[in-house]
Amino acid sequence: MIDLQQLSMHYTLPGGQRIDVLRAIDLHIAAGQSVAVAGPSGSGKTSLLLLLAGLEQPAAGHVAIDGVRLDTQGRDALADLRRDRIGIVFQSFHLLPSLTARDNVALPLQIAGRADALARAGEMLARVGLAARSGHYPGQLSGGEQQRVAIARALVHRPRLLLADEPTGNLDDATGADVRELLLELNRDSGATLVLVTHDIEFAARCDRVLRLHDGQLHEQHEQRGAGIPAALADPHALPA
Ligand SMILES: Nc1ncnc2c1ncn2[C@@H]1O[C@H](COP(=O)(O)OP(=O)(O)O)[C@@H](O)[C@H]1O
Ligand SMILES: [Mg+2]
Repeated sequence: MIDLQQLSMHYTLPGGQRIDVLRAIDLHIAAGQSVAVAGPSGSGKTSLLLLLAGLEQPAAGHVAIDGVRLDTQGRDALADLRRDRIGIVFQSFHLLPSLTARDNVALPLQIAGRADALARAGEMLARVGLAARSGHYPGQLSGGEQQRVAIARALVHRPRLLLADEPTGNLDDATGADVRELLLELNRDSGATLVLVTHDIEFAARCDRVLRLHDGQLHEQHEQRGAGIPAALADPHALPA
């Protein structure tokens, strides 16, 4: 599903100083897997997700989604690929405040010219447990409800890949647990691949794989699913030998 080959990325600051974020990363993620990406603040987790979505360009190496190399796509092809295959959920929900929950969820389908946009949006809101709130505006919803609307919007076009950047980061523990269960359930039921940045060690431990980003390198953790919280996650200084 996802292949990274020798993927490197850096930012150049206005003064010319270079910040190396990712250094020659190789990674394969199989279709349907749930993969948690952990790592300290500033280690490049968000940058990695932006590269996977084709929203940032690598300095070297490449990303391929379903065998399609993002670096060989033009702007429009990349936008099409994103629209057809990728859903993205952010820590801050990015809902449009002047649109109801249903209209927020329908928007990507309406932009794509789909006549069934509102009907599909209604179905997705029911799927995330918000059927009764579909006529409400984001300001009338709690943080957890807003995040569920954002998840419905990310999944309304049935993407095969869902990218989530700290989706529970702005939520209290109980609400975060609800959103966590929802994302794991959607990954299980729809078979969509889930790549998730999270600081929640319980969330990471429930995924098929945990990758830890550190000094521009990805370290794979072991013994996932059912094995409890991996030692290297519980102790951020314990990296595999
Ligand atoms: N647009 C940008 N311009 C310059 N530096 C950036 C930019 N975005 C992120 N960075 C830097 O790149 C590094 C990785 O950032 P990021 O991917 O956001 O990390 P994380 O999500 O793990 O906190 C950090 O040092 C950050 O300050
Ligand atoms: Mg980040």
